[in-house]
Amino acid sequence: MYIVFEGIDGAGKSTQIQMLKEWLEANGFRVDTLVEPTDSEVGKLIRKILQRPDATSERLLKSLALLFAADRMLIMDRLEDESKIIISDRSFISSLAYQKPVDWVEVINRYAKKPDLIILLDLDVIKSVARTSGKDTFEDEEFLTGVRQNYLKLAEEYTCEVIDANNGINKVSSDIKKAVAPYLGICPDCIL
Ligand code: TYD
Repeated sequence: MYIVFEGIDGAGKSTQIQMLKEWLEANGFRVDTLVEPTDSEVGKLIRKILQRPDATSERLLKSLALLFAADRMLIMDRLEDESKIIISDRSFISSLAYQKPVDWVEVINRYAKKPDLIILLDLDVIKSVARTSGKDTFEDEEFLTGVRQNYLKLAEEYTCEVIDANNGINKVSSDIKKAVAPYLGICPDCIL
């Protein structure tokens, strides 16, 4: 199963992925994790560009869309191991939410693997801006308001569980476990 965590910056994806991983392993599953952008040369270039003040310009958004798609192709082989649950911090769904135009973003991500389940950590934009460093140009209130709306629309098109990420860490974690359990055929009440 390929589970992806999505959401605007500062939603707590990395903490929640770690907590879900430990819980699944305690319940006997083998789990592997991934992060996009990756630590490849392409991923490093992406992180550099994200710090440029013009990163949200039309031209750079298109360049970034191509780089994100290229970076993603470099890890496709890691998604082939069917004996494990793969939990990814972001996927091509991030590109659909952050880059545009959406029909072109779909075309360049045609060979990206579709998630079996999306966990959308839905956070208030004001909280997102307060929680992030503000060092990336994407960490901007107006830009993230559009991204959050895109995510909520995508949640209707894909197999997605929307989790309120404004709550405390433990409440968010237990909401995620409750949402994931039925997909794995486990009962949320009889597990750790
Ligand atoms: P993020 O997960 O926020 O990394 P970190 O918190 O370590 O900086 O990802 C970096 C940024 O990249 C984030 O603002 C979202 C953006 N992004 C896209 O715009 N499109 C994509 O396809 C992906 C994977 C990420």
